[in-house]
Amino acid sequence: MAATVPVALAALLAAGGPAAAGPAHAPAGHTAPGHAAARTTGSVGAGDPYFPLAGNGGYHVEHYDLTLGYDPDSGHLDGTAVLTARATQRLARFDLDLKGLDVTRLTVDGAPAVFRRDGQELVVTPRTTLPKGHRFRVTVAYDGTPEAVTDPDGSDDGWIPTDDGAFVAGEPQGAMTWFPANNHPTDKSSYDFTITVPQGHTAVANGLYLGSRTAAGRTTFRWRQPEPMAAYLATATVGEFQVERYTTRDGLEVYNAVDPREAADAASVLKKLPSVLEWESKLFGPYPFRAAGAVVDHARSVGYALETQGRPLYDSAPSLSTLVHESAHQWFGDSVSVTRWKDIWLNEGFATYAEWLYTEQHGGRSAQDRFDALYESPAGDELWEFPPGDPGSGGNIFASPVYNRGAMALHELRRAVGDPAFFRILRDWAAGHRHGNGTTAQFTALAEKVSGKDLDRLFHTWLFTKGRPDTP
Ligand code: ARG
Ligand code: ZN
Repeated sequence: MAATVPVALAALLAAGGPAAAGPAHAPAGHTAPGHAAARTTGSVGAGDPYFPLAGNGGYHVEHYDLTLGYDPDSGHLDGTAVLTARATQRLARFDLDLKGLDVTRLTVDGAPAVFRRDGQELVVTPRTTLPKGHRFRVTVAYDGTPEAVTDPDGSDDGWIPTDDGAFVAGEPQGAMTWFPANNHPTDKSSYDFTITVPQGHTAVANGLYLGSRTAAGRTTFRWRQPEPMAAYLATATVGEFQVERYTTRDGLEVYNAVDPREAADAASVLKKLPSVLEWESKLFGPYPFRAAGAVVDHARSVGYALETQGRPLYDSAPSLSTLVHESAHQWFGDSVSVTRWKDIWLNEGFATYAEWLYTEQHGGRSAQDRFDALYESPAGDELWEFPPGDPGSGGNIFASPVYNRGAMALHELRRAVGDPAFFRILRDWAAGHRHGNGTTAQFTALAEKVSGKDLDRLFHTWLFTKGRPDTP
């Protein structure tokens, strides 16, 4: 399923304006996303108008096996990435995304391949053309000092050094700062991580903890993410952490890593994680992963938390609302991922509305009350700067309209269809796109199907119309 999405997206976009950006951004000799299928060169991007170079066409990565070593003192990272991929077209050449770092060796199916760097594109020419459908293995050895990327909104993401390790958060672009990737949410893969750090440090990645071993002053941590994961949700956060492990009564394996400087503030909220996940499972359907937990770092300058798959990452002790928010992303964002960044309200609007619902169902303010208060925001407020379904650029994807007006759109949907249909829509959305991708059009179609109502006007008003809607 995931393998076909980038091609479909490329085809969809080829007809309109956005894909026209392809040739302009493409290094000489590269094909635009829309024409990839006819050629033997994998496209330079996945066809996302907000981040044209993100991801790559022509193949699907089934699995990443990442072996990393990090030295927090020097900031040096060395890595070997083994990607198991399948060609979705004949491939004489393809790209990976990798920003910074030195590539020291690159093989395809064990044979040295020609490669060159071109910005964030790592351009690979295998010794022989790969037939369509061929499963192949790319091994990339690399090292250097990783540097975070600065996003269009001025925030940093990727490998962010801290005073005791690194805060590793890849939304939307940063995965490529620490491993070679098909760096777009349409390509989802399983992962293995083997991370070596100085003894006394802990390296926390996604999914199941497989164990650690210490030798000669260094400790190696092994992790496995069995369910499909978008590259931006991968982490390998390093720090001096207090670790807590337990299994919930639902059988989830919980692993929490907490910076001791945040431990006192984090304790009471982290205790609520199992009950929050249970509450969300009742509302949204079964929790989509086998592992759960949290990484609470001491890195306030980052300025945000991220829903890293199975184990959200916090830059400081989270509030209960933030824990509810990042937990809700496990369904909306992580299991059901966007097909293009423009649809980011499917992540942030949903996670924000989950906060409202949690408060409402735990003796606090009603969602209607939150809606009403936001609706009072004056016409010039940033809330009304753009509609959540059309943020306009990658610089707006984490702005207030996406989160708050996105949640308001869901509240309006709930009011229009009633609670039974509304919660059925949320559950069907999570179930129908589980471990996959979705689009806004698919969501609005589902809402109409489940409710049996024509919701065109509602979605047009709340998702796509500029400015403050006249009637709530
Ligand atoms: N998805 C995260 C959240 O809702 C926000 C990530 C922000 N990323 C960034 N580069 N600014 O909590
Ligand atoms: Zn969020």
